[in-house]
Amino acid sequence: MRLNKLALAALTALAVGAAALPVIAQEHAAPAAGGEQHAAGGHELLAPTGGWSHEGYFGSYDTNSVQRGAKVYREVCSSCHGLKLLSFRNLGEPGGPFYEARWPNPNDNLVVKEIAAMFQIDGVDPDSGDPGKFPGKTSDRFPNPYPNDIYARVVNGGALPPDLSVMAKARHGGAGYIYSLMLGFVPPPAGLTVAPGQHYNAYFAGDTASSWSGDPRHKPPGGFLAMAPPLATDGLVTFDDGTPSTKEQMARDVATFLAWASDPKMETRKKMGVSVLAYLAILALLAFVSYRRIWRNVEH
Ligand code: HEC
Repeated sequence: MRLNKLALAALTALAVGAAALPVIAQEHAAPAAGGEQHAAGGHELLAPTGGWSHEGYFGSYDTNSVQRGAKVYREVCSSCHGLKLLSFRNLGEPGGPFYEARWPNPNDNLVVKEIAAMFQIDGVDPDSGDPGKFPGKTSDRFPNPYPNDIYARVVNGGALPPDLSVMAKARHGGAGYIYSLMLGFVPPPAGLTVAPGQHYNAYFAGDTASSWSGDPRHKPPGGFLAMAPPLATDGLVTFDDGTPSTKEQMARDVATFLAWASDPKMETRKKMGVSVLAYLAILALLAFVSYRRIWRNVEH
């Protein structure tokens, strides 16, 4: 009888724990590190050697990679893509790539201030009241590079470069999708017609059926997009930590940065989850022990 109750208590604690785990990690799109890969456009995504350190229940971001990726984004992608849900100060908050304990308030963080000031933000001149562009402040958000969507389409062959704030969450495969997209601009297979201004990408979440003259059952994976390969050559960015900026490295780092940007509080959330589980486990034990004490002298 007693054993049954012990088993029941243990099972309850386990069930609570199991129910809480998915909430902590919110890993709908992300496979465990080094684990299975997701298919996009009908085939497996590419994965960097060693996988993604931020995936899995206890994974955390590779800070150096997020820092390098921030530079790739700023120097390459930010001329076309905004990150409107991300503020500069997020870079200097706990879990952010430039967080430092000596600057608990991210608005004092010199690195973050410097990065913010590299962007031009719409504002008003405090003396004359004239509207204009001014160096960003830590409280500003990463700006949309275009004055409006119509203009953005006109200069991009009719396609609107999407805001990248939650791109890593919006596409199946997360960082793996962005990484594969960056490296997926391969020559189109024979039989596939690529329209002018379009680029074939083997991992783009699109469709090739209408441009394929071969066997419809074997249409090539991927699709076409108006974005030219943004990381087409090595060395586009000079990394501050001396890491050689191969295409593969830049793709990996920008994908990690965008994964962080889409979930800047992930590390805090995962840590909180572990504490909650520990708390629940101790509580379950205490409840069980006090139950035994209270009913100790009662026949049953
Ligand atoms: C010259 C402008 C330009 C630059 C620079 C650029 N992009 Fe794009 N990007 C576009 C356009 C335009 C689209 C929309 C393409 C379409 O839908 O046909 C796009 C689409 C995307 C998409 C969405 C793909 C999808 O699944 O819908 C991602 C992700 C992306 N870009 C990432 C990046 C990254 C990362 C960089 C920097 C390394 C970058 N882009 C640099 C213009 C650009």
